[in-house]
Amino acid sequence: MRVPRILKITRMGDPVLAGIAHEVQDPTAPETHRIIDDMLATAIDFGSLAGLAAPQVKIPYRIVLFTVPKEKGGEIPLTVMINPRWEPLDDEMAEDWEGCLSVPGLIGRVPRYVNIRYSYLTPKGEAIKIEAHGFHARVVQHECDHLDGKLYLQRMTDMANLAFTEEFIKYIRPGKLSQEKDSQTNQK
Ligand code: NI
Repeated sequence: MRVPRILKITRMGDPVLAGIAHEVQDPTAPETHRIIDDMLATAIDFGSLAGLAAPQVKIPYRIVLFTVPKEKGGEIPLTVMINPRWEPLDDEMAEDWEGCLSVPGLIGRVPRYVNIRYSYLTPKGEAIKIEAHGFHARVVQHECDHLDGKLYLQRMTDMANLAFTEEFIKYIRPGKLSQEKDSQTNQK
């Protein structure tokens, strides 16, 4: 049996994060499952992680993992999405703080659609369609952006709302992130 590998996280500036990721032709193929196993091992090794997109581990394919913890208004277990698509359900947008493994040490306020509908294929090839709201919708949008070469910084409308995570914890929202491991925000 193959032991999954813990992969290195790519950081802003790596061209793989700026490119358009390829569609996965066969979600059930062994090579697809090898990628997913490595991504899961990497995410689990990281601990507090809201999501991980394949380009963040240097794999230019449309595969995303995400989870919504209970304290963030939902309880979505670690979910694997292949070839995800999403669309807003209405025009409502909201701003909230986001961090990203590929932009370590920073946190910024990002406007996102509040209500979305999204679809994806599972590793078994099943087609799933679901609606999401709030943090759940935010995570899906953040991760899907990684598949289209976009980081949250490119979605920000005011760079005054960018901070180092340490200063954020100290001055902006003391206590907000205290439950997170490594003093990090929910990294995506
Ligand atoms: Ni990210």
